[in-house]
Amino acid sequence: FDEVSLRPKRFDEYIGQSKAKGNLTVFIEAAKRRKEALDHVLLYGPPGLGKTTLASIISLEMGVNLRITSGPAIEKAGDLAAILTNLGTHDVLFIDEIHRLNRSVEEILYPAMEDYALDIIIGKGPSARSIRLDLPKFTLIGATTRAGLLTAPLRDRFGVINKLEMYTSEELKEIVIRSAGILNIGLDQEGAYEIARRSRGTPRIANRLLKRVRDFAQVKGSGVIELELAKHALDALEVDEIGLDGVDRNMLLSIINKFGGGPVGLDTLAASIGEESGTIEDVYEPYLIQLGFINKTPRGRMATKNAYAHFGLEYDG
Ligand code: ADE
Repeated sequence: FDEVSLRPKRFDEYIGQSKAKGNLTVFIEAAKRRKEALDHVLLYGPPGLGKTTLASIISLEMGVNLRITSGPAIEKAGDLAAILTNLGTHDVLFIDEIHRLNRSVEEILYPAMEDYALDIIIGKGPSARSIRLDLPKFTLIGATTRAGLLTAPLRDRFGVINKLEMYTSEELKEIVIRSAGILNIGLDQEGAYEIARRSRGTPRIANRLLKRVRDFAQVKGSGVIELELAKHALDALEVDEIGLDGVDRNMLLSIINKFGGGPVGLDTLAASIGEESGTIEDVYEPYLIQLGFINKTPRGRMATKNAYAHFGLEYDG
């Protein structure tokens, strides 16, 4: 059976990202009035902020079908050609992790995005020739954790570029309350806020913590998530007062204790805590930078005074 979906289906249920939401609403309305496909949209920002959700809302608001795939899933040019030729008029194609497309696949995408055309090479050697097939007018929605990972020619072909921001605790509280309603979980305002403020600005984390805190409420509490229960559960989950988890703490303490507070190169830091460099950059670092706990310098990462203070350590930077 299908798990109950916490994803909002329409913009009026979608909390936060007011800038992206406001602009997209205008572009969608304009495209619909002109009876055109929406221009191609690039969404970038840390994982868990709602890129896939937005793609799904856009397709629903446009009244078209959504086809979801990802950069690594499209191995050969022919795979992408097959997807493109099967799209309907004005449909949305969502490519997650679009920075991971391989070169030959990406080159198919340029004429597809620009001219809604597919260039196919027939034959080999001197007799090879290229024929051009028309594609339906469609909307590509690309998602990536960092826009800087895209090649310039690909980035330049998106007419709409939106950066997704981390959510405020107030926005996350609203999301937690909405999700609790859908999942039939009892929680009060303070319980909701406690989960929200420990969710690192990320709805996906807020919803995951909500489910785990509910488990504690059912087994160890009254079944309702209130402040003390939420605190107890989140402490047991090793999510600290400001939402840092074991990896965050390990990383900060490693910079402080093993590398004298930094600067330390990303790869060295990654090796020292047994994580991938890319995971550190995409998943862990954005929130720590947002908190002002880490500075990125040309010579590497440095722990800030705030980071030392969080662990009750003296800063002699
Ligand atoms: N669930 C996950 N993200 C959400 C959002 N932005 N608004 C409402 N519910 C959500």
